[in-house]
Amino acid sequence: MAIRQIRTIGDEILLHNTKPVKAITPRISMLIGDMLDTMYEAKGVGLAAPQVGILKQIVVIDVTEEGNNPLVLINPEIIELSGEQTGQEACLSVPGKAGIVTRANYAKVKAYNEHMEEIIVEGEELLARALQHEIDHLSGILYVSKVEDGIFDVNITEEEEKNEE
Ligand code: NI
Repeated sequence: MAIRQIRTIGDEILLHNTKPVKAITPRISMLIGDMLDTMYEAKGVGLAAPQVGILKQIVVIDVTEEGNNPLVLINPEIIELSGEQTGQEACLSVPGKAGIVTRANYAKVKAYNEHMEEIIVEGEELLARALQHEIDHLSGILYVSKVEDGIFDVNITEEEEKNEE
């Protein structure tokens, strides 16, 4: 497993569409492992393949505090959305920034797991937000195009601490 470089806003690859995964090859398995490592290392709650420069429909998410319950979603598709939530959102590809985005409060997603078995994932609040945010990445959509009052700087104490180590 390895940490991959996270592409940041301004990198055109983030604006591209992605292709579905046809089969779990060793290369795809390695990519999934690397995406998980990269997400945890960056202390993110989600990461989509275009963020590491790969135009494939793969998303990893972990919204748990402990960071021990990863979701791997291949070729994910939103099949139901309901309700509404308005709150702060950020992205590993837009470091040090956040913005207010309104999303559905509930999301139901059909996808395949890392064994290419069909799964259904349902979530509310943070998980619903992460599902919508990450699946947007697969169509080249960044949250900054959905913010209500522009993006703003956020406290980066944690990153500063890490840099001091
Ligand atoms: Ni993002």
